[in-house]
Amino acid sequence: MTPDSLAQAASLLRRGELVAFPTETVYGLGAHALDADAVAKIFAAKGRPAWNPVIVHVADVADARALVTEWPARADRLARACWPGPLTLILRKRDVVPDIVTAGTDTVAVRVPAHPAALKLLRAAGIPIAAPSANRFTELSPTTAQHVTDGLGERVSLILDGGPCEVGIESTVLDLTGDTPIILRPGGLSAETIAHVLGERVGVRGANVDHRQENSEAQRSPGGADRHYAPRAEVWLADSADSSELQDAITRAASGEGARIGALLLDGGLSLTGVHRTLRLARQPGTYARGLYAALHTLDREGCTLIVIESPPIGAGWDAVRDRLIRATR
Ligand code: TXA
Ligand code: MG
Repeated sequence: MTPDSLAQAASLLRRGELVAFPTETVYGLGAHALDADAVAKIFAAKGRPAWNPVIVHVADVADARALVTEWPARADRLARACWPGPLTLILRKRDVVPDIVTAGTDTVAVRVPAHPAALKLLRAAGIPIAAPSANRFTELSPTTAQHVTDGLGERVSLILDGGPCEVGIESTVLDLTGDTPIILRPGGLSAETIAHVLGERVGVRGANVDHRQENSEAQRSPGGADRHYAPRAEVWLADSADSSELQDAITRAASGEGARIGALLLDGGLSLTGVHRTLRLARQPGTYARGLYAALHTLDREGCTLIVIESPPIGAGWDAVRDRLIRATR
């Protein structure tokens, strides 16, 4: 990324064109958030259904507040402690935010990304930037500029290369519009950190939340029940406990016509035979998250027809990784 490419990206965005840019979580496919026609291009390029709202990226708290009608004390605490960072807040939107951004709901998702290139771009453009992950709908999120090129190619005017993403998994989406803060999507910032900052219990959609308390927009997002964040290959999520059964199943699958088996295992974890390509990730949630999408992209690119993923440990810090792995198997 050069000062030239940054200035060009800012100018393209202001003119209503699409620009892919790095954030600390994953690469985003950006458009002028207050320009409905520009945002429509995001939906077209991704093949994203109109019911799925997009996150608006801003440079700071003041710019976030300009998009919402209420700035609750919880938002203020979280923003002070966790922004810039992998936390997206759902708040009541102002009329300036076009309906296409929010899928017609009265809430908007906002976050200040922590990547220096993203912040520079936001400041240079001087506008809020709507950006989902820069991948086709249901495909893997990109954590390098090359992933964006592979997935979207000519559909995007410019791709800013800011190197591989540090966090590697999408932001945590937290709904602050109800009585209790509710995590709609686990992500780069842990539920424990959010609860600690707020000094109160935080709900998690689909886990400890009474569904009747949820607002309707929360139910449709994020991702719904769709296969999501998924490689092209079939995916098995395998418990290390049943390794002999797993090995038998792999041996059978490997004998199939044109079968190519990839495995994503843990350091010091399962060892399998009959697998064409094995990648390993560390037993540490942050490091694992950073490498996850790149590993799946690699196995996909190598033409794997089946990817066997060793289940990561259950425990604190693994909820976001587990969520993405479960969605990848759908
Ligand atoms: O880390 C990230 O969040 C990345 C980077 C680029 O910032 N972005 C990202 O965007 O993952 P996307 O569109 O792939 O996922 C955003 C999620 C979607 O599942 C969407 O349903 C949810 O946030 N969302 C957006 N606006 C919402 C709203 N008003 N209410 C509820 N959920 C919302
Ligand atoms: Mg996405």
